[in-house]
Amino acid sequence: MTSRYHEVYAAGKADPETFWAEAARDIDWIKPWDKVFDAEAGVYGRWFAGAECNTCFNALDRHVACGRADQLALIYDSAMRGTVRKFTYAEMKREVVALASVLKNQGVQKGDRVIIYMPMVPEAVFSMLACARLGAIHSVVFGGFAARELATRIDDATPKLIISASCGLEPGRTVAYKPLLDGAIGMAHHKVGRCLILQRDQQRCDLVEGRDLDFADQVARERAAGANVDCVPVKATDPLYVLYTSGTTGQPKGVVRDNGGHMVALKWSMENEFGIKPGEVFWAASDVGWVVGHSYIVYAPLLHGCTTVLFEGKPVGTPDAGTFWRVIAEHGVVALFTAPTAFRAIKGQDPLGSFVPKYDLKKFRTLFLAGERADPPTLEWAERMLGVPVIDHWWQTETGHPITQNPVGLGRLPVKHGSPGVPMPGFDVQVLDDAGHPVVRGTLGNVVLKLPLPPGCLPTLWNADQRFRDAYLAEFPGYYKTADAGLVDGDGYLFIMARTDDIINVAGHRLSTGGMEEVLAEHQNVAECAVIGIADAMKGQVPCGFVVLNAGVNRDAVEVEREIVALVRDRIGAVAALKTVVVIKRLPKTRSGKILRATMQKIADREPWTMPATIDDPAILDEIAAALAGRGIGGEGAVVSR
Ligand code: COA
Ligand code: AMP
Repeated sequence: MTSRYHEVYAAGKADPETFWAEAARDIDWIKPWDKVFDAEAGVYGRWFAGAECNTCFNALDRHVACGRADQLALIYDSAMRGTVRKFTYAEMKREVVALASVLKNQGVQKGDRVIIYMPMVPEAVFSMLACARLGAIHSVVFGGFAARELATRIDDATPKLIISASCGLEPGRTVAYKPLLDGAIGMAHHKVGRCLILQRDQQRCDLVEGRDLDFADQVARERAAGANVDCVPVKATDPLYVLYTSGTTGQPKGVVRDNGGHMVALKWSMENEFGIKPGEVFWAASDVGWVVGHSYIVYAPLLHGCTTVLFEGKPVGTPDAGTFWRVIAEHGVVALFTAPTAFRAIKGQDPLGSFVPKYDLKKFRTLFLAGERADPPTLEWAERMLGVPVIDHWWQTETGHPITQNPVGLGRLPVKHGSPGVPMPGFDVQVLDDAGHPVVRGTLGNVVLKLPLPPGCLPTLWNADQRFRDAYLAEFPGYYKTADAGLVDGDGYLFIMARTDDIINVAGHRLSTGGMEEVLAEHQNVAECAVIGIADAMKGQVPCGFVVLNAGVNRDAVEVEREIVALVRDRIGAVAALKTVVVIKRLPKTRSGKILRATMQKIADREPWTMPATIDDPAILDEIAAALAGRGIGGEGAVVSR
């Protein structure tokens, strides 16, 4: 099939308003827009200004009304528990309506925030949709974050109510959520008056008298009473959700997603970018706490009338490296979306792919990878083992859907290993030097997106227009800064090489080294510190901390390391995955006092590096190399050119 990509992309560029107005015909609107794009509204303009709609209606009600009532909407497959639960569109609507009624009884109204801190259970999806039904704004917090991270989000989002569960299930351990929730509520300045707690049999919890309600009891009562809650009309430009993502400090950024543009962009992407037809089974193996989960576990598949798979488990160890193939075969999955790290984990345990032939993968057509760089060896391995196209694509929490892709729905372009594809309609991707000038094609630079961003992207940060301008729009006027560095080749394919800020990508999870440094600095014995991301065969990168102890402190380095690792786990959460902290005498700095993190990272990763001309004392880098070598990192193999 010849690809329609070039023609469609050109149409989107020539007349964005006509292009997106056409795409918007696939959504049911309560009131049409006054303007497809209002350049005067918001920070850089707003899409579908004046329109009214409801996202839950488009995800559930209209499918129930139009012949999909008995089609499966959601398959919950828990490899942790060995159970499967299935919900048709009609059943899911019943659950969501009952839950919306519970929320309404608790006073949740349009515009109120609701935090959802839950494991991968269907009730997490119902909670998101129940909020959408009421026009309330959900903010899902990933279960791997600790109490303090949750408290920060409570204070920023100021929720009326929190929905949580008694526990999450990780291999070999049950994670009690309730102490984390109670701890966070205790720490937060904003006082939350009501929590709805899902009791899971694996570990139940005590409910706080007068504050906590039992999720299942409340929903059952509303269901039995036949409660009905209609979808509340909201403006297309009203927020559907706020999702916090790592910034350059410990204060996360609340990415705002609107209702109208989000629906239009996601629905369009399912057919044209992912090549999925309504009625097919789509699986995003991520977590509802991340943007991939929001967009491609919950909203896009449901808006498109697909069956979505909600998987509670890991690619390996639950119980083995064949789990992904079992889920695909058992549920008739046509496309899987996950992070490359999942495939590195599978490849590590089953390099010959011996589990693959045990399952019937006939329906499986495409593997989509994103969230971090897809290294060509892993990508090629996946292609060989599965015999399907493997499509790398690049986007961010902020954009909500792919910026670049190889659009299989429009007709696949040749795959270039190492590249996440070409720009999708609405995204004008450019590469600029540090002074803001376009670079020569093929040259590395700052990857930026020309404003305005297309529908579905963040219009701003929650309650922080100025932070949005400062963080994303100020450095390159007229452009959105992605904070990724990369290049565009002669065929228009993008290659992403690195972040330009202190964000690292650990097992597909976006983390701030700056945020971790704030925690290291809290330790009573630490005078100075630095955290860098170093290469890891499975997770892509892992954090590595360096600490200089206060003068006069003469403690055992192993003990200090253990305390700091525990501190980061306690403050940020297990997901931070900080396991290595090296005690050193001094940090390498420039003469103006800037810590040379990039050079330290090159030494750790055995990459060639040159001695920075501005370094204060070159001998310190030798000390760092020796300290790392002592931990089996970098060291001898490092290539140094001075
Ligand atoms: N609740 C509580 N703890 C959690 C958690 C959750 N929802 N998710 C992860 N954690 C914990 C893990 O148990 C682990 O704890 P440990 O240090 O005690 O072992 C820690 O956080 C780090 O988790 P992770 O980095 O995910 O490592 P892992 O070894 O548990 O799993 C992979 C590694 C590659 C198998 C896993 O990250 C994975 O499946 N990734 C691919 C899919 C994905 O998540 N993509 C994200 C965006 S698309
Ligand atoms: P997140 O907001 O968690 O989705 O993380 C977004 C960041 O992950 C991007 O800015 C990139 O740094 C990185 N990323 C996501 N997808 C890719 C990809 N396909 N290739 C390279 N990096 C990626």
